[in-house]
Amino acid sequence: MSEEERRWKKVCKSTKLKMNKVKGKTIGTKMVAVMRTEEGVFGTNALCRHMAWPLHWGGKIKDGCLRCPLHQSSYHPEDGSVNEWSPAPYFPLYGKMLGKLRKPSSLKTYDVREKDGYVEIDMKS
Ligand code: FES
Repeated sequence: MSEEERRWKKVCKSTKLKMNKVKGKTIGTKMVAVMRTEEGVFGTNALCRHMAWPLHWGGKIKDGCLRCPLHQSSYHPEDGSVNEWSPAPYFPLYGKMLGKLRKPSSLKTYDVREKDGYVEIDMKS
C-alpha cells in the first residue's frame, strides 16, 4: 500500500451514512465526523468549537448545515465555517453568556471519498 493510500482511513460503510446524517469515529487521537448532504459527503473534526460536544452525538444536518444539539451552533460542512454561533438557550442573559465563552471558530475539515463501499477520510488533509 502506498503512502498516499495509508492516509485514508475508513469511517463507516457508505450504506450506513444516510442522506442528512452524521457519523463519527475516533481515529488515533482524533474524533472525526462524516456527513452526507445534498451537496455531497464531507468530513470535519467531530468536536463542536463552542464547548467540544461530539457533533455526531445528536448533531443534525439542517438546511445544509451541521447543527450541534447542545446550543445549536451550526457549521457549513464544505469548509467548516460557522453559520450560527450558540443561539440557544434562548433565555436572554444565559444564552448570551454561553455564546461568549468562546469566540466563533471554524471546524477543521478533511478530504473525504467513498471507495469500495466505505466512507474514507484523509487524515493528512
Ligand atoms: S457545544 Fe456545540 S453549540 Fe455549544
